[in-house]
Amino acid sequence: MENKKYYIITYGCQMNLHESEKIAGILSSMGYVLAENVKQADVIVFNTCCIRENAEQKAEGNIGALKQLKKNNKNLIVAVGGCMTQQKGYAEKLHKEFPFVDIIFGTHNLENFKVMMEEKAERKKTLIEVEDGNEIIYEGTPKTRSSYPNAWVNIMYGCNNFCTYCIVPYVRGREKSRSPKDILSECESLIKEGYKEITLLGQNVNSYGKNTEYGDFPELLAKVAELDGDFRLRYMTNHPKDLSDKLIDVIKSHDKICKSIHLPIQSGSDKILKAMNRHYTKADYLEKVNKLRAAVPDIAITTDVMVGFPNETEEDFEETFSVMKEVGYAGAFTFIYSRRSGTPAAEMEGQIDEETGKKRIMKLIAYQNAFNRKTSKNYEGKTVRILCEGYDDKKKKYLGRDEYGRMAYFDGTEKVLGNFVDVKIVKAGGISLYGELVKGE
Ligand code: 5AD
Ligand code: SF4
Repeated sequence: MENKKYYIITYGCQMNLHESEKIAGILSSMGYVLAENVKQADVIVFNTCCIRENAEQKAEGNIGALKQLKKNNKNLIVAVGGCMTQQKGYAEKLHKEFPFVDIIFGTHNLENFKVMMEEKAERKKTLIEVEDGNEIIYEGTPKTRSSYPNAWVNIMYGCNNFCTYCIVPYVRGREKSRSPKDILSECESLIKEGYKEITLLGQNVNSYGKNTEYGDFPELLAKVAELDGDFRLRYMTNHPKDLSDKLIDVIKSHDKICKSIHLPIQSGSDKILKAMNRHYTKADYLEKVNKLRAAVPDIAITTDVMVGFPNETEEDFEETFSVMKEVGYAGAFTFIYSRRSGTPAAEMEGQIDEETGKKRIMKLIAYQNAFNRKTSKNYEGKTVRILCEGYDDKKKKYLGRDEYGRMAYFDGTEKVLGNFVDVKIVKAGGISLYGELVKGE
């Protein structure tokens, strides 16, 4: 039938992937289906991220590129949502620069997106709704999930930490926790529907439940892990300052919780950590790592690291590099500090030039790549339990991850999709593994 309506959503970062699934859910409830390409789309939504300047520039470039498409197709609706729109004065700036954008909606206005879409059909004017924040948690937003057999579940929204470089607390507002009842019933339904991996999401999951009667994060994690069914459980992101012994105990005593934790260090220099307002020292961080490893010896630790924060000297950077070597991360997301207007760090003297940032990040990346290659080799000959996530058209192989987050490729048939399978690793290539299916078809 040709009267079908089509949508496309692009998202700016991993964190707003799940929010995009909610936007997709709203559009699906209005009869839209996913378009195969931009030309086919009746509505194009940009769910933007503004955590770093390059994400913002990229989004603006992509929005600008739609001008012609919009001219050729008068019925096309272009909507821009997400963190970018929440910045002070940004919605107005966007409207001025790209007057053809039809809808601009803030992260706190997602629930109203359907109404805005309906209203737009009757009006020509750009609709702008960007609220500063609200206390309400909306339950029951439809979701069109796109990462089966993995499912994302929000346990909280916002952030109270105000790391001095970070724009998130300004655009996402204060921390709000969802009730355990709502979280558990969502997880239960997902397991019944056949999802095999649940990732609990929050900017700092370790502060879940603060100032509520909901209990704390370790209690919530244990309750989810104790649900019936064949699934595994992840959670992100952890702030090292709030990682408790109680959490370590829960991780240790529940098999369904993956032996993997994302623990952003940001910097290894105490001077820089203080200026970042991170509330821990290098020694505190290493102590938590040691505790984790004492309890769960094979736990895979991943991290976020930043270079080029204002006043970062060569010595400060070397401290970061030394922590990286000392911990031996299973994965590291590396970033060059990006000056975000409105944050305290943007006003600091001693901003670092781009070249220095690039040089430092290259050193971290080179080290991490070499480390990954080395640890990959340890997998050769071993049989690992993989959750098959999909099929790689280029490699012509199925793919999935083990509980440590390591990606493996293997031959199989469609039956493996969405299932746990045993794969014997025959070859390590960089960070990825290549193996043969042993069991699971
Ligand atoms: N510049 C560079 N990286 C940043 N991050 C957050 N804010 C900035 C910024 N201004 C990084 C942090 C965080 C991750 C999600 O993004 O490392 O953990
Ligand atoms: Fe940003 Fe810090 Fe909050 Fe993470 S904990 S979202 S880095 S302010």
